[in-house]
Amino acid sequence: MAKITISLIKADVGGYPGHASVHPKLKEKAKECLKQAKESGLLVDFHVMGAGDDLQLLMSHERGVDDEEIHQLAWDTFVEATQVAKELKLYGAGQDLLKDAFSGNIRGMGPGIAEMEFTEREGEPLIAFMMDKTEPGAFNLPIFKMFADPFNTAGLIIDPTLHDGFVFEIWDIMAHRKVLMRAPEELYDILALIGAKSRYVIKRVYPKETHPKLPSDEPVAVISTEKLYQIAEKYVGKDDPVALVRAQSGLPALGEVLEAFAFPHLVSGWMRGSHNGPVMPVSFRYAQCTRFDGPPRVVAAGFQIANGKLVGPVDLFDDPAFDYTRQKAQEITEYMRRHGPFEPHRLPLEEMEYTTLPEVLKKLESRFESA
Ligand code: F6R
Ligand code: MG
Ligand code: MG
Repeated sequence: MAKITISLIKADVGGYPGHASVHPKLKEKAKECLKQAKESGLLVDFHVMGAGDDLQLLMSHERGVDDEEIHQLAWDTFVEATQVAKELKLYGAGQDLLKDAFSGNIRGMGPGIAEMEFTEREGEPLIAFMMDKTEPGAFNLPIFKMFADPFNTAGLIIDPTLHDGFVFEIWDIMAHRKVLMRAPEELYDILALIGAKSRYVIKRVYPKETHPKLPSDEPVAVISTEKLYQIAEKYVGKDDPVALVRAQSGLPALGEVLEAFAFPHLVSGWMRGSHNGPVMPVSFRYAQCTRFDGPPRVVAAGFQIANGKLVGPVDLFDDPAFDYTRQKAQEITEYMRRHGPFEPHRLPLEEMEYTTLPEVLKKLESRFESA
């Protein structure tokens, strides 16, 4: 069988109300567009979802990553959904479509993209993670835990097929460069980079050359790393990231993948893209950002891939086993909120550079005297 490509492409093309959620009519329109593409043979399968105010297009096909027709399809679908958003006067209609016309690749045009091409295994579990009100570096901690932390992933110790570890592709999203690093050999160096999550982000994870079951050139995880302000050159909303993760048989088990979200770690991007808060794992039912436009949250859709067909999804955080994490996230939410405009609830100044704060500070500039 030909290799299969899974593309998860997302954009905020209008919120309802405010930046809280996606209106059902946007999802209907997107389904209509992708259904046509499936009937024409371009897509093998698709699934449309909403996470916070982001419209999510999960597509399977045989055309590889960065395929012009697939990207065009996603772009056109967002344009069509924007039309609906405009008719309903949804909030910020078309806000993530930062360019006027499609020019061959949707990267750098506003939407976020996580794509990977791989040889489908006998059993191929795939999880699509979608976060809202945060940024790509929010995935650093859980992806690290899944593929490199033995306190999270028992298989790294117990299962000989995982025991050699994995290779991390880490991007420096400020200097536009990347580095491949190996775990466990370079654990401390990896953490030295990815702990600085606003700059160094995990883009992909690969098996090692020694992996007994999987080719080392096919990714097992991929994360969207698009930064909107770098495209628009000003603050236009956060870059709410998405990720695709494969599981089982020489990879972290489904439960080890999900376990990485049992700790509601602090991420940036909440309220006006300007605040730190905990990332709360929720079911799709609760994928709407309300308190202080948040708190940031993550949803997970689980599938089995069958000859490219997306069998599912299972709403993976719809489980009382995550109630404790949610409770903890709410305690942290309350604690952080009490800081009001003070750091570290509000982001440090260098990260506020791309928000609307500099406009406010500019007005004070002339009043300063030397001290
Ligand atoms: C959007 C977001 C929101 C907005 C806030 C202000 O992703 O995080 O918190 O930044 O609602 O939005 P505007 O400036 O559109 O009124
Ligand atoms: Mg929005
Ligand atoms: Mg969003």
